[in-house]
Amino acid sequence: MFVHNEIIRYDEVDGFVYDDWTGVVTFIIKGQECEITSLNSLLEGKGIGIALIDEVLREAKEMKCRRVFLITSNDNLHALGFYQRRGFELVAVHRGAINESRKIKPTIPLIGENNIPLRDEIELEILL
Ligand SMILES: CC(C)(COP(=O)(O)OP(=O)(O)OC[C@H]1O[C@@H](n2cnc3c(N)ncnc32)[C@H](O)[C@@H]1OP(=O)(O)O)[C@@H](O)C(=O)NCCC(=O)NCCS
Repeated sequence: MFVHNEIIRYDEVDGFVYDDWTGVVTFIIKGQECEITSLNSLLEGKGIGIALIDEVLREAKEMKCRRVFLITSNDNLHALGFYQRRGFELVAVHRGAINESRKIKPTIPLIGENNIPLRDEIELEILL
């Protein structure tokens, strides 16, 4: 994955798997910050996403992190709602960040979900 101008390799991150691999969350803890690098649920609307986020928050607290943050794309309206309903707040819009990433990874589509041009990274956080 290419995000905030950095390559994130999925074999180098921590993570939790929901029961029978119906959901996976990955994260990186660096100092007092925990970044959620991916969250995927194969059976939506059954509590898997919330359970995985809760596990990350628990782990981050145990590791004495001060904040948990994540980047999502400007087209992902579902994720923007999902995280805000879980207490995450918008803290930054990195304008054009995905356009920049596309120069390095040209397979990133021009149009994302909801038929929205894929351009910006949106940062959300929750303070612990
Ligand atoms: C975002 C995502 C991870 C959410 O996962 P999920 O498993 O559907 O999440 P949950 O089931 O825990 O919660 C989703 C909704 O279902 C509701 N829900 C949970 N269990 C429920 C149940 N038993 N009955 C009815 N509703 C339920 C939750 O309250 C939540 O509602 P809300 O967001 O409107 O408040 C999932 O949609 C996904 O994989 N999206 C694609 C990848 C992505 O965008 N990832 C995030 C960007 S990093």
